[in-house]
Amino acid sequence: MDPEGARNPVFRVGLLISMPPLSAPSRQATGTVDAAARQAGFLGTGSFVPEGRLTNADLEAMVDTSDAWILERTGIRERRKAGSGLTASMMGAEAGRRAMAAAGVSTVDAIIVATCTGDSRIPSTACLVQRSLGLDGVAAFDINAACSGFLYGLILSRSLIATGAAETVLLIGSEALTTYIDYTDRSTCVLFGDGAGAVVVGAVAAGGVRAVRWAASGANSDLIYYGPKDGEPDTMNAMRMAGKGTFRMAVERLTEVASDVCADAGWRAEDIDLVVPHQANLRIMEAVTKRLGVPMERVMVNIDRMGNTSAASIPVAMAEAADTSRVRNGDRVLLMAFGSGVTWGAVALEWTGQPA
Ligand SMILES: CC(C)(COP(=O)(O)OP(=O)(O)OC[C@H]1O[C@@H](n2cnc3c(N)ncnc32)[C@H](O)[C@@H]1OP(=O)(O)O)[C@@H](O)C(=O)NCCC(=O)NCCS
Repeated sequence: MDPEGARNPVFRVGLLISMPPLSAPSRQATGTVDAAARQAGFLGTGSFVPEGRLTNADLEAMVDTSDAWILERTGIRERRKAGSGLTASMMGAEAGRRAMAAAGVSTVDAIIVATCTGDSRIPSTACLVQRSLGLDGVAAFDINAACSGFLYGLILSRSLIATGAAETVLLIGSEALTTYIDYTDRSTCVLFGDGAGAVVVGAVAAGGVRAVRWAASGANSDLIYYGPKDGEPDTMNAMRMAGKGTFRMAVERLTEVASDVCADAGWRAEDIDLVVPHQANLRIMEAVTKRLGVPMERVMVNIDRMGNTSAASIPVAMAEAADTSRVRNGDRVLLMAFGSGVTWGAVALEWTGQPA
């Protein structure tokens, strides 16, 4: 659980020297609909969040911060915190169980868990989920693309289905982030929460994923990392973030990738029924959707109650949108995420997750 690279000063200095200007044009891998290939869509969604709540008032008692500061800068009122012993695999298994029940399936061909806070280095968290779900034999593996992990996993799932390598994929985003936090570092400890969301991705006759874009810039790895505080090697290993630089780059890249994926899908802003963005900061969501021309009424927001749950945030928000009928079959949904790596991506899809 302790990436050597993040602790190695040579590695970190090298990154700082080679960091390109944030406004450098980005490269993105793309994919639109191949009419001959099988289309992939959602068959069911589910989520699990721990009962424990960490409110802004709780944080006021722990560190020099205030409810007003957190709310104004981030939009967060509270976040969920797993009690000791509740791990990413346990939360992920429960979210996966609920997604499979919603999809009406008793098995899948592959389990992918997007996480950066898995139970251990080995075995993968996906294998622990598989054991918990009693799905012995099903292919299972993790991916780590931090807050973009769920979208990376969705792009991968879609390819598995299009090629026939899988008929159904249980895709889970699960994070036990609060165990990676330094609760003396007020610039990060107010942001993150725990939880898990899941979807069953499968072949669909109509709708589903229309276009995808994904990208990464390792040259900007220093923006968000796990390790000691920058320049303070004796501090504990924890999530660290250069907030302002991350904010600026997130707004730039998300606006670009979301515009591009909508263009790929042939959508204009008014065609989008719902945006489900990664829940990193309400101000980022507002800035990006304003630039896209989509009003906030068509943006799914739960950061006020969940905080930033990294790879879990999009599937948790989607499950809530489905459960509260904010999204229905046929709706045009835009997903977008930005996170450590740095990584980012967007997916345009026509919703198929409502039971017939
Ligand atoms: C983290 C974030 C909320 C900080 O907001 P910000 O407006 O950029 O604030 P800054 O970091 O510039 O800090 C401003 C001041 O508030 C202080 N501050 C930081 N955290 C604070 C807190 N929890 N409570 C009170 N004050 C705080 C800083 O020390 C600084 O004080 P100073 O001016 O005296 O030095 C914001 O930068 C952010 O959301 N970044 C992107 C997050 C993200 O997208 N993550 C993506 C993937 S995980």
